[in-house]
Amino acid sequence: MRLLQFGLILALASGFAAIIIYINGLANIYEKSLLSDEDLGALESLQSGFQKCVSSNGLGLQAARGRDYCQVTIKFPSDTVPKWKDPKTGELEGLSFDFNLCEAVATWEQVRNSTTILTKEFIDALPNGWTDYAWRRINKGILLNNCKNKTLCMEKLSLVLPETPPYFPRQFDRCAVIGNSGDLLKTRFGKEIDGYDAVIRENGAPIENYTAYVGKKSTFRLLNRGSAKALDKVVELDETRKEALIIKTTVHDIMNKMIQEVPIHNPVYLMLGASFGSAAKGTGLKALEFALSICESVDMYGFTVDPGYKEWTRYFSESRQGHTPLHGRAYYQMMECLGLIKIHSPMRADPNRIVTYVPSHSTVTAARTASEKLLRRVGAGSGEPLHACSIIKKQLQREPIGISSIRKAAVDHKNFVKGATMYPLEHSPGHGLLCTVPN
Ligand SMILES: *[C@@H]1O[C@H](CO)[C@@H](O)[C@H](O)[C@H]1NC(C)=O
Ligand SMILES: *[C@@H]1O[C@H](CO)[C@@H](O)[C@H](O)[C@H]1NC(C)=O
Ligand SMILES: *[C@@H]1O[C@H](CO)[C@@H](O)[C@H](O)[C@H]1NC(C)=O
Repeated sequence: MRLLQFGLILALASGFAAIIIYINGLANIYEKSLLSDEDLGALESLQSGFQKCVSSNGLGLQAARGRDYCQVTIKFPSDTVPKWKDPKTGELEGLSFDFNLCEAVATWEQVRNSTTILTKEFIDALPNGWTDYAWRRINKGILLNNCKNKTLCMEKLSLVLPETPPYFPRQFDRCAVIGNSGDLLKTRFGKEIDGYDAVIRENGAPIENYTAYVGKKSTFRLLNRGSAKALDKVVELDETRKEALIIKTTVHDIMNKMIQEVPIHNPVYLMLGASFGSAAKGTGLKALEFALSICESVDMYGFTVDPGYKEWTRYFSESRQGHTPLHGRAYYQMMECLGLIKIHSPMRADPNRIVTYVPSHSTVTAARTASEKLLRRVGAGSGEPLHACSIIKKQLQREPIGISSIRKAAVDHKNFVKGATMYPLEHSPGHGLLCTVPN
């Protein structure tokens, strides 16, 4: 009886303690005492540099502070004529867009240390990976009854599922992501593009007959559902047939059949992406995400980013309905001003153009740490290299990598993370990662 009473008191006490901690937590957000003065300084400095960067590089765009250190609004000049109408509401696109810098800096910096290729190791390590996740990456996977027959699921994924990641952070030095905008025909960027260490293209973008404008080199190609179904046609676009094909969506029986029967010798993988919310769904952003996960620096060509551009054509075909072009343009400007990418376009054609007021490495790191705290991300504020890992799995056998052929920066990074591989967990609260570490 005594024991019971004691237990009851203990339970009550810890209940109260929890409530008090909870209330304190709320008060902390309110007073911003969640953040140190140093953190606040970092966010403040990121935001003020950002405004300067947008006005000096944005070709007419301006950034305004929002209600706190994270919120910014990017505005187009008032004489901009929006052309794109939302097919659902019939409304023209607006001229100002709100962005959350803290969210962006925390998420994109995480992308730079993550792998964006789906692997068997990932599905194996994910709790219920085979029953809850694998079927989502198979076309009509819902019919597979949560992969009740695991052998069948593995069979369907086998041609696109490497055991461990084929690429790793900082593997390439300079990368170019090539969009499909008709704008590309205004500048002969071909030679410049071929000078990159890796070139990433999208969907059915042709190379032949356009090399003066888009270059010849092609290392990766990001594919949406439609292009993936025409895999046999897509592989013909690159005459070396070495391009690696990265599929955004699901593996399809038609695809498996083509890989085996055509046959297709190019590497084919499925992409594993972070969640950025509605702002970042198109193939273009996915290509940037993939590039940022394997490259030291990322340059962007062929996205419609110049003021006054409203033809919305592809360089190889007539007009097509672009989607939210102004929103996209503002988002890319934000990325440039966070130091993630550099934009090249007819109006920014000088290859040596310097993006002014880009935040320094130390500002980004400090702002990212502060943002993680503010957003209550997993492991926020810890100096540990594996701080954001919400699931850590030891891996028995790691494929040895020929160290000699790897860039020093990639080796340094690998040492920093103690050989871990970090995978984004979609829809994970706090953006936790799944990490596999050598045993
Ligand atoms: C599971 O799938 C494999 C491969 O398609 C098949 O050979 C096997 O018969 C299936 N097992 C069951 C119990 O349906
Ligand atoms: C390149 O041009 C030639 C001649 O017009 C044409 O036959 C060929 O299909 C074109 N190639 C591509 C990839 O568009
Ligand atoms: C990513 O790795 C680098 C070392 O290569 C490290 O300095 C940086 O803090 C890491 N970023 C995140 C978000 O963990």
